[in-house]
Amino acid sequence: MFEDLRMPPPDKILSLMAIFREDPRPEKIDLGVGVYRDADGRTPIPRAVKEAERRLLASETTKTYVGPAGDPVFCDLVAPLVFGPELPRERIRGVQTAGGAGALSVLAGLVAAARPGVTVHVPDPTWINHVAILTDNRLRLAPYRYLGEGPERVDFEGMLAHLAGAAPGDVVLLHGCCHNPSGADLDGDQWRRLAALLAERRLLPFVDLAYLGFGDGLEDDAFAVRLLARTVPELLVAVSCSKNFGLYRERTGAAFALAADAGTAAVAQGHMVVRNRILYSMPPDHGAAVVRTVLQDPVLAADWRAELEAMRVTIEALRQALAAAFARLTNGSDYAFLSRDKGMFSLIGVTAEKARRLRDEHAIYVVEDGRINVAGLRLDQVERFAAAVLAVR
Ligand code: LMR
Repeated sequence: MFEDLRMPPPDKILSLMAIFREDPRPEKIDLGVGVYRDADGRTPIPRAVKEAERRLLASETTKTYVGPAGDPVFCDLVAPLVFGPELPRERIRGVQTAGGAGALSVLAGLVAAARPGVTVHVPDPTWINHVAILTDNRLRLAPYRYLGEGPERVDFEGMLAHLAGAAPGDVVLLHGCCHNPSGADLDGDQWRRLAALLAERRLLPFVDLAYLGFGDGLEDDAFAVRLLARTVPELLVAVSCSKNFGLYRERTGAAFALAADAGTAAVAQGHMVVRNRILYSMPPDHGAAVVRTVLQDPVLAADWRAELEAMRVTIEALRQALAAAFARLTNGSDYAFLSRDKGMFSLIGVTAEKARRLRDEHAIYVVEDGRINVAGLRLDQVERFAAAVLAVR
């Protein structure tokens, strides 16, 4: 049975975690996988999450099944974070999922059920797993150029030109904020122009919202999704609670579909439930129960917001320090984009071979496409990192 199989290539992001763990060099720095790290290099459990877990441990009386849609209260609490308080509730239906990747899989399955083999226009570059998930659902991928050469980084006109040629009914994958891997986001005007084009061309936006709260803040980062929800008749949103609630391994997320009317939204939700059932029968409960407990308690919710904002500000400070270090060492502004990029990631423009040299010669781990997780740096490592990048350049 298995003799004809070839070993699949290692995941470019996750394989770094194992290599890093085994590296004995004490000065090693992990800028690979997208997790937040504090000044001590730890990925903290937010205070509100810890308190919610304490309460759940004390109050839970059963571990019986919740159901294939997951916890509807969790979805009702997450939906306003994404769509805003004035969301068109009757047209939005969602299910709880196993993390953001689960949400992407559920929504890709929904698209495949509605339009088998439809074309999904995907930014190039994008998160590695997007391509795998969409392909696994037998959807056709059409990459669109996302990054340009200029200082503004996003090739917005190129992106619009590509999408203007897309067929009505095609799907467009978008990063709602904090583009992964580049950290280069559209500005407000660009989102408005894009939303108008999507509406006019009758293209379906499929938004990945994995880093809500890490760009410009919880409200500002939802701007694009809320604008799209006001502008287009149909919208898909994959939400992750991994980063903003620090729940990574608990696999907590939600998939939402905005449909033209309440009846269609209910049918879309029915298909999402089927996808959950096929993929893992039902999503794991613990992380969603934690999020529900936090968001239902105004004191915990306020503390969670404050801690999320503190994480965002820490990353922002690292970005400024990083850009300043490069400016000092190069006497130029080639790396000023690092201070403007949003969220955890930026591309530092090294090839796979140079990424390997960073690892071998400097004990610095970056993804082979040149992606760095800025949150993996400590302020006292910034100078060393910048010097290492320039040394292998
Ligand atoms: C990342 O991009 O590093 C994270 O989303 C983790 C992952 O699963 O790839």
